[in-house]
Amino acid sequence: MTGAMGSMLSVKNLMVRYGDLVGVADVSLEVPKGSVVALLGSNGAGKTTTLNAIAGLVPPAGGSITLNGQPITGQPAFAIVRRGLALSPEGWRLFVQQSVEQNLRLGATVLSDRRREPALLDKVFTLFPRLAERRRQRAGTLSGGERQMLATGRALMSDPSLLMLDEPSLGLAPAVVESMYETLVRLRHAGLTLLLAEQSVELALEVSDYAYVLQTGRTVLEGEAAKLADDPHVQRIYLGLETGAGVDPAGS
Ligand SMILES: Nc1ncnc2c1ncn2[C@@H]1O[C@H](COP(=O)(O)OP(=O)(O)OP(=O)(O)O)[C@@H](O)[C@H]1O
Ligand SMILES: [Mg+2]
Repeated sequence: MTGAMGSMLSVKNLMVRYGDLVGVADVSLEVPKGSVVALLGSNGAGKTTTLNAIAGLVPPAGGSITLNGQPITGQPAFAIVRRGLALSPEGWRLFVQQSVEQNLRLGATVLSDRRREPALLDKVFTLFPRLAERRRQRAGTLSGGERQMLATGRALMSDPSLLMLDEPSLGLAPAVVESMYETLVRLRHAGLTLLLAEQSVELALEVSDYAYVLQTGRTVLEGEAAKLADDPHVQRIYLGLETGAGVDPAGS
């Protein structure tokens, strides 16, 4: 798993600064093609900063990022999306005054061949029938679960080979989270590679092959998801998370 040869995405010693503050001190990870990799960690661990740096939304202060063997460190976001790496961001970042369909179409603006847009739109609507029903509705009127679907759908409109999702379960009711995760599993079976940032450990480990645990901006633990799920060390890093109960104290 650590061999960089088979990796689609490779991050080495990433460092990100926010002025004098260090957002990420030292993060390394590998995402092999066809896999689902989880990035775990509690509030402020650096998950969002890591994903945003990979996506080109914040500039790295150190380290290297390669996609399919090509360096993408410091490239602008649109160039990275064009290479097949899309992000469904934390907080969704939707255009609330625009319709569901308009938001989705914005995800396709980087396509080199815009004629593919209708087919991609159909695909997203098949994946999320709820969005098809609400295609003319303003994004600002959607429920939390529907906004998550829309953010994910918009990312898929760029036809990525690697999709990064920042906390797709955050703030959603358990049934909605379950259906979101079923969709992620379906995407994986359709050949998509996934990098998933989550505070919800058990959920993420259930669908992942491999996971990294971040703590104060560093990768402190990594391993096969099935092994980490049984590792008491993981629970300890997640102080506050009840072992076995699976209840996120911040949730619902
Ligand atoms: N725009 C910013 N300006 C200054 N500091 C920031 C900024 N964004 C994040 N940070 C800091 O960087 C660190 C990592 O934050 P980040 O949002 O990446 O964590 P996270 O793991 O995504 O947390 P959460 O689970 O709460 O989303 C934190 O200490 C945070 O305060
Ligand atoms: Mg975050």
